[in-house]
Amino acid sequence: MSIEPSTSKPEIEALLAENRTFPPSPDFAAQANATADLYDAAERDFEEFWANIARERVSWARPFDTTLEWDLPFAKWFTGGQLNISYNCVDRHVERGLGAKVAYHWIGEPGDTRTLTYADLHREVQKAANALRELGVATGDRVAIYMPMIPELPIAMLACARLGAPHTVIFGGFSAEALSGRINDAEAKLVITADGGWRRGKPGELKPAVDEALAETPSVEHVLVVRRLGDQAAKCVMKDGRDVWWHDIVDRQAADCPPVPVDSEHMLYLLYTSGTTAKPKGIIHTTAGYLVGTSYTHEMIFDVKPDDVYWCAADVGWVTGHSYIVYGPLANATTGVMYEGTPDTPDWDRWWQIVEDYKVTILYCAPTAIRAFMKQGESFPGRHDLRSLRVLGSVGEPINPEAWLWYHEHIGGGRTPIVDTWWQTETGMILITPLPGVTATKPGSATFPFPGVSADVVDGEGSSVPLGGGGYLVLNRPWPAMLRGIYGDPERYFETYWSRFPGMYFAGDGAKRDREGYFWLLGRVDDVMNVSGHRISTIEVESALVDHRGVAEAAVVGKNDPITGQAIFAFVSLRGGQDPSDELGRELREHVSKIIGPIARPKFLMFTPDLPKTRSGKIMRRLLRDIAEGRTLGDTTTLADSTVVDAIRANTGKAEED
Ligand code: WTA
Repeated sequence: MSIEPSTSKPEIEALLAENRTFPPSPDFAAQANATADLYDAAERDFEEFWANIARERVSWARPFDTTLEWDLPFAKWFTGGQLNISYNCVDRHVERGLGAKVAYHWIGEPGDTRTLTYADLHREVQKAANALRELGVATGDRVAIYMPMIPELPIAMLACARLGAPHTVIFGGFSAEALSGRINDAEAKLVITADGGWRRGKPGELKPAVDEALAETPSVEHVLVVRRLGDQAAKCVMKDGRDVWWHDIVDRQAADCPPVPVDSEHMLYLLYTSGTTAKPKGIIHTTAGYLVGTSYTHEMIFDVKPDDVYWCAADVGWVTGHSYIVYGPLANATTGVMYEGTPDTPDWDRWWQIVEDYKVTILYCAPTAIRAFMKQGESFPGRHDLRSLRVLGSVGEPINPEAWLWYHEHIGGGRTPIVDTWWQTETGMILITPLPGVTATKPGSATFPFPGVSADVVDGEGSSVPLGGGGYLVLNRPWPAMLRGIYGDPERYFETYWSRFPGMYFAGDGAKRDREGYFWLLGRVDDVMNVSGHRISTIEVESALVDHRGVAEAAVVGKNDPITGQAIFAFVSLRGGQDPSDELGRELREHVSKIIGPIARPKFLMFTPDLPKTRSGKIMRRLLRDIAEGRTLGDTTTLADSTVVDAIRANTGKAEED
């Protein structure tokens, strides 16, 4: 493992930007939720800090007795307490008179819209929970959710949570194989899906992938299917005795399903994420700490007020959607926007039209989207009134200063604070971020750890690197929304996150701190790529390629990409008797799509007679990264057979772009 970041940010650019600071405006600071004294208050006693927040903002069915039990690497927060998170996200708002408040303004890609108030959500969640019960789901049973961005998705999650049945949401862009792997690992009893959804002007079906996935998933008893496409879908085949339409079973239920109180540490959900092996990890999140962490950070970091219209433009299939579309915002009784489709449909100003129509005040999205908008030019946002915006957020990958400045100027009108938020599926909540109204920001820096959070940058030995230097990002104190483990594999949990630097959580990211202590995230330092803000393991893509009968060996690296951050670059050597061809290149890409999903499809693919290996047989990825970037090659002395590099180099430029 090397310190070399996989997304190498041009050092010069970073240094220049470092000199620009954007202090909070006095007007914003005067009304901000967050204040500078939070840092000191949290530092004095971080457990007490979180305990107070937990007492204030959670409606407990039974109060907790112990704030934290920390038996490294296993944390338990707020033990002795009982609660229901769907009650906290929905019922209590209705009880205090907010039933008519909008929970979600939903916009379908074709232009259809739906409005869900908290009272609507209250009714629908209870009906859905009753339907789940009728389908045999009980407290503790796992439910897999594979859906487009439609209102039934948060409803389904909340219905599971109401019964204490952990959900596992699988992003709709994953393939049937990826879906069945996750269903089997979680041993899900029920799958909730839809006939499909709209993307880029076309209906995209989902149910066929479910049918394919379910060929080998013995735990699944039923499939609950929402009708979204209707006649637009090729006939959605329903299997007798197994498949049930949502409208057939949910609509006839009574809205009278009381929330089941669960222990603070009851599993709320599993979310699968890519690691450094071929098998995705089921990250475990539990109830109370997650609720405390997501709702508090949401309110402070986005400065959310009762009248805000908040839009997190992520997909609920990723952790950002779980924490900052569903649980955090709903716990805060926020009015949110949910959009089904892509930003370029029907044209590149779709998002700005939505901001104008709904008077969106807070927007949270990924640098990939910002760079894609940048490429299209400022005339698209320029056509719309974006003056309602008052806070902008960024997440998922390092934001380059240029994109930060464009976002600031062309979307934020030069007025709005930008919060660049660093966190992970594992962390559950944002951990490194500015506080708007408090922190002076620097384009490209996620600034400082959130109050109560302790982060450091260490060298290979685990010693803290002095300010000005770079190394590995670690966290050295537990936080409420932290992962509780990897499902079914406590050893892997310890091994992956807690063994590299004893006593510290190793995030897998490189970081440096400037002389003022600002954190600059530098990308992954392990074999994980970040493509459009999505984590994809190099090894997962390699095993998908090797799974093809024509492939002898494959090595995959992330290549810097101006829009998606990184793009997948695959080096493939074929079995004897197989000849490289454009057609085979296409076939291999298709194969990866089929096994993992279209998000993992290599953008570049190069056939090579051999792969460069060390004498001990390890593939030299650093060298391949240099080749992929077209850089002059670094040290090759450990290379077993130097003619391999010559052969690959002779091929450079022949990598075929998808
Ligand atoms: C990267 C997404 C730089 C990082 C919430 C991390 C970031 C991985 C930032 C987690 C940021 C996320 N600046 N890098 N603001 N936010 N990352 O699990 O490499 O999908 O480890 O969670 O995204 O990705 P995940």
